Amino acid sequence: MTTELGRLIARRIALTGPISLADFMAEALSHPRLGYYRKALPVGAAGDFTTAPEISQMFGELLGAWLAERWLAMGCPSGVRLVELGPGRGTLMADALRATRGVAGFHAAVDLHLVEINEQLRALQGQALAAYKPAWHARFDDVPEGPLLLIANEFFDALPVRQFEKTARGWTERMVGLADDGTLRLALAPGVSPYASALPDAAEGAQAELCEAGLALAGAVGQRLQRHGGWALIVDYGHDGALGASLQAVRDHRDAGILDRPGETDLSAHVDFAALAQATGRPTFGPVRQGDFLQRLGIAERARALKARASETQRAAIDAASARLIAPDQMGTLFRVLAVGDDRSAAPAGFSDTPSD
Ligand SMILES: C[S@@+](CC[C@H](N)C(=O)[O-])C[C@H]1O[C@@H](n2cnc3c(N)ncnc32)[C@H](O)[C@@H]1O
Repeated sequence: MTTELGRLIARRIALTGPISLADFMAEALSHPRLGYYRKALPVGAAGDFTTAPEISQMFGELLGAWLAERWLAMGCPSGVRLVELGPGRGTLMADALRATRGVAGFHAAVDLHLVEINEQLRALQGQALAAYKPAWHARFDDVPEGPLLLIANEFFDALPVRQFEKTARGWTERMVGLADDGTLRLALAPGVSPYASALPDAAEGAQAELCEAGLALAGAVGQRLQRHGGWALIVDYGHDGALGASLQAVRDHRDAGILDRPGETDLSAHVDFAALAQATGRPTFGPVRQGDFLQRLGIAERARALKARASETQRAAIDAASARLIAPDQMGTLFRVLAVGDDRSAAPAGFSDTPSD
């Protein structure tokens, strides 16, 4: 049994023909009434997946310290737009702002802008961040002009991707069409894709993805940084320019079929950091592994400080959370961190001088 949204998508395909996986993903995640990110409360233990800030307060605290340090490096400007893309339950930003209360002048210099399409999450963000009087926007472009400090954790992976396969004919796009029984199914388009020239040379059988929405957004962030200065920090799971098909579906913390139950299933794809960095048109640092980044920012010291005033059970939980965030077989390697800035003269905290590692 499919969902109401699945039936709507099938009807659209029956009327107008197969659609790209990007169009399918946009409908499945962002349909105004039935999209996954419109109605569910997806993030957290009760949702389909959990995220780094929900695992430990240390994540948001360390990212907050990073933002405040960048603000100091910018010369402490006022009127800074502190922006989070896809703030989930507001946990990351609440931890970041609590941890930076002691940075003289920082809170007075920033106004908080949250880019979020989910009304229920907006309500939770409002509770978590009431003291900072956030403004909400549906799109980054609606954030007022000004110097920028931007953070995005697990946001770009939710943006729609096209998928391609290299066949004897050339790069061919994977489309969503209908099977004989009217259910959704994946099939290659018959001709060579007009996007072929944007894809790398590869052997027959290779697969590739293209996230036009992510590249356009990275370009818009880069232009904003060029006009007004500032920094952006992008954390996501991803790769650095490699080929492959990474689109995956998760429902109730379990893998699911990509076309299964649209609107009830989370879809995400690995972020191509090399393409994203290039699209910003600005100096970038990284991507570095999340584990390396958090260790360079001092997660071990922060964990020790928290444990010093914790019970035995709490100490074990802090160690477990820390391992989850940095261990190579957990989030430490899969997740990468990219900084985009207005200045290439010195690497920001957490990054070595090499552009990627
Ligand atoms: C995977 S969650 C990550 C939440 C949070 N950053 C965290 O780390 O817990 C993705 C977030 O982006 C929001 N989102 C997804 N697609 C969006 C879009 N197209 N525009 C604005 N927000 C979006 C979701 O509602 C959610 O808040």
